[in-house]
Amino acid sequence: MTDPVRVWRRLADASVLLDGFHALKHAVRFGAEVPVAVTDDRRAALALADELAPDVRDALDALLAEVPTATYRSLVPRPHPTAVAALAVRPPRAAHLGRLAHLPRTAPVVVLDNPRNLGNAGAVIRLAAGFGATGVVTTGTLDPWHPTVVRGGAGLHFATAVERLDVDELPPGPVFALDPEGEDIRGLKLPDEALLAFGSERSGLSRALRARADHLVALPMRPQVSSYNLATSVAMTLYHWSATGGAPHPR
Ligand SMILES: C[S@@+](CC[C@H](N)C(=O)[O-])C[C@H]1O[C@@H](n2cnc3c(N)ncnc32)[C@H](O)[C@@H]1O
Repeated sequence: MTDPVRVWRRLADASVLLDGFHALKHAVRFGAEVPVAVTDDRRAALALADELAPDVRDALDALLAEVPTATYRSLVPRPHPTAVAALAVRPPRAAHLGRLAHLPRTAPVVVLDNPRNLGNAGAVIRLAAGFGATGVVTTGTLDPWHPTVVRGGAGLHFATAVERLDVDELPPGPVFALDPEGEDIRGLKLPDEALLAFGSERSGLSRALRARADHLVALPMRPQVSSYNLATSVAMTLYHWSATGGAPHPR
């Protein structure tokens, strides 16, 4: 039998770390290739699967190797309460770019223009997965596959197309850029083909993104409040898209 620790050490640098049971569950559910998964308590992990994820229980049973607690702790930067960790293969960029560029689209692409906060990026990827968005594109230097973003996204990077691009490489489609100075979102229907663009936590929309925008859109907000948090802005906008006829994926 292959030694999971040797496989782990060989693959770790080039793989996506799935930190915790929920990240592994989501990644498997959405078709990630997972060459190695470990836990210090297989029985507890499979009991969680029975309770929370019977659809992937057999897959997890086949994947999970039990290792001593000290070994598990040596493989991860921070132990997770579920003591489950796995490595996944990052999906090929070309496949994502194809999905992002494909028209007609059945759901918008979310664009984060130079986001700074890894936790916000993870929360947005989780939202995009939940609403069935076509993908999440980031501009700027933040790596949307950074381990902290993957942790924040609960393994849902595998449920949507996540890539970093420059503004001049954005996929086709009308850009609806969110900005407090824009037109009230409540009077608008956001098309499925839209790129929904959000500015940086520090400085809002960049000049380049504003130049590419077809519409500026505002979320309702009292005048005394300067702005909303980035991830909550994405949540409200995707909710508005779905509530005005955007089609969430069938369950
Ligand atoms: C934290 S805000 C940016 C605040 C930044 N200090 C600025 O000068 O714009 C991050 C992003 O969330 C979106 N956002 C926040 N509040 C909004 C609102 N009321 N209407 C539309 N978009 C909003 C915008 O895309 C904004 O660029």
